[in-house]
Amino acid sequence: LASIKPRLRALILEGEGLWQRPPVQENTVACAVCHFDAAKIRGWAASFPKVKPMPPPFTRVMTLQQAVGEAATKHYRIPPGDQNRRVAAAIAAYLSWVGEGLPLTPGTAWDQPRFPDRLSALEASIGRGRDRVRGACTGCHRDATALAGAAPGFPRVAGGGEAVVTMEEFLERHAGLAWHGAEAAEVVAYLAAQAGGRPLRPGGSRDSR
Ligand code: HEC
Ligand code: HEC
Repeated sequence: LASIKPRLRALILEGEGLWQRPPVQENTVACAVCHFDAAKIRGWAASFPKVKPMPPPFTRVMTLQQAVGEAATKHYRIPPGDQNRRVAAAIAAYLSWVGEGLPLTPGTAWDQPRFPDRLSALEASIGRGRDRVRGACTGCHRDATALAGAAPGFPRVAGGGEAVVTMEEFLERHAGLAWHGAEAAEVVAYLAAQAGGRPLRPGGSRDSR
């Protein structure tokens, strides 16, 4: 953790605090209370995007930050909005740090069962993401596979050393995709699938952080 840039480190520590203590104490249960198995949690970050089961009709492919945002709404009573985004970014940064070094395997963690229907929903989402990237990004980014190389390096300190951004937040500013939307999940799923097998490295490569 000491080798990570101070701003990213601060976000990770904030996320760790939020994981252990809800910001609102009333009628809430900390993430850590239900999710106490560290070995399981370590596998999460590298396994996203994936299908997050929700009450119908809301089941869909989500990124890690999106899934954490949903959990923050449900368990911490933080409705969708800016506070939800910030809490989700912090906890997602913490989970990414916990999962650092594991190869990206969007869809399932190594210890999780493989549900064929969820994996085919993810495949469809990756396909839509590929079309979206070809339509909206390759004008500037000729080589879409080169883009994917950035995927394992989020969250990271944005250019100029200003703020720390998750990939979802980066794409919202960079390409106008709402961080919590299905379109962002498709693009992230496509890039993560392209980057499959590369190790998760929040903050980017060791040299760049
Ligand atoms: C009351 C118990 C409970 C609390 C509190 C809770 N969760 Fe969960 N969570 C679950 C259950 C049950 C599942 C589905 C089974 C599983 O994947 O462990 C789940 C699944 C998840 C998943 C999907 C994991 C995967 O690999 O698919 C994420 C991410 C998650 N929770 C994040 C959080 C976060 C972040 C918090 C705190 C804001 C939180 N949870 C609080 C019970 C809880
Ligand atoms: C108008 C041109 C333009 C478009 C369109 C565009 N980008 Fe970019 N993108 C850039 C430039 C320039 C950079 C490098 C500077 C920066 O980080 O903002 C960049 C950087 C990135 C990075 C970081 C790469 C790295 O290695 O650090 C990612 C990821 C990315 N773009 C994804 C996308 C995606 C996905 C789309 C389509 C949804 C897209 N971009 C559309 C110009 C564009």
